[in-house]
Amino acid sequence: MNNYKNEKARSVSLEKVKDYWKGKNIPQIWYTNMEPGSVAYYNNTSKQRYELYFPYLKESAEFQYHRNEKVLEVGVGMGTDLIEYSKFGAKVYGIDLGADQIELSKKMFDTLQLPYEELKVASVEKLPYQDNFFDLVYSFGVIHHTPNINAAVDEIYRVLKPGGRAIIMIYSRGWKHYLKRCFIHGFLKLKIFKYKFDWQKVYNEVSEVNGFSPLTQILSRRQVTKLFSNFYIEEINKKRLGEFFEYKPYNTIKLPNFFLNIFTLFGLERLLGENFIIKVQKSPKKEKGKISEVIWKNY
Ligand SMILES: C[S@@+](CC[C@H](N)C(=O)[O-])C[C@H]1O[C@@H](n2cnc3c(N)ncnc32)[C@H](O)[C@@H]1O
Repeated sequence: MNNYKNEKARSVSLEKVKDYWKGKNIPQIWYTNMEPGSVAYYNNTSKQRYELYFPYLKESAEFQYHRNEKVLEVGVGMGTDLIEYSKFGAKVYGIDLGADQIELSKKMFDTLQLPYEELKVASVEKLPYQDNFFDLVYSFGVIHHTPNINAAVDEIYRVLKPGGRAIIMIYSRGWKHYLKRCFIHGFLKLKIFKYKFDWQKVYNEVSEVNGFSPLTQILSRRQVTKLFSNFYIEEINKKRLGEFFEYKPYNTIKLPNFFLNIFTLFGLERLLGENFIIKVQKSPKKEKGKISEVIWKNY
């Protein structure tokens, strides 16, 4: 069991979460008006995903480095990222709470004639796999929506082989969080008064493209460290300065290059990025080496 506690989130029902992610809220279908399923549809949505919305993702997800490994994606959405692992020769498995997502993912794999081991409806809080089974568990923008995030992380730990790794994205408290969610929506639009100072309710209302998610938890670095306390933590990095603001339905205005260049020049993505990329290992805690010890031992 990890050290992070959020009892309030647990009162949200998993059924509500499941219902929310149906229909118009299936991730990525709002990128385009094209009918889902064709090669042209895949080309269009994956290009937007990797070049516009999440330009850091291809590098962070390490798609090409898991050939012949067993990779599980938790919360596949329409399968775009799992398709990348499959393209590079991983043995891929995917689960999602929604039947629509699993059906669409299967369709995308079939359209592209790429192999997968299994795609099925399941919850990350109770993974339908034996202990010590996967080399890599990957999840992008999913576990912060599940009511029992502790169970989710413990399940990921359980199904990983000793030495196996997880790459997880959850929302972080970056510039958009403080400016958009807290300042504009919370204070200027008075939502914090509407919700009687319950910030979680403000986050739920404004965090997703179509709004009013049943649960979107936005953790601090300290909380993330507690949540993954059973693992050896390789990195917890903030990424994505992102689009300027997303106006429905994702009518994107990119952050002007001038600001992007300034932020990059001063390395501000680490401070202001709105996604946490968390890379962890199921292995005994390792002592972080000190540079002075390395020099002393070797020279
Ligand atoms: C924001 S979407 C992300 C989907 C995909 N990873 C992507 O980046 O497009 C959240 C997804 O998580 C799924 N989800 C939410 N709670 C879940 C749970 N407890 N177990 C499995 N999937 C869950 C939803 O059905 C939805 O498809």
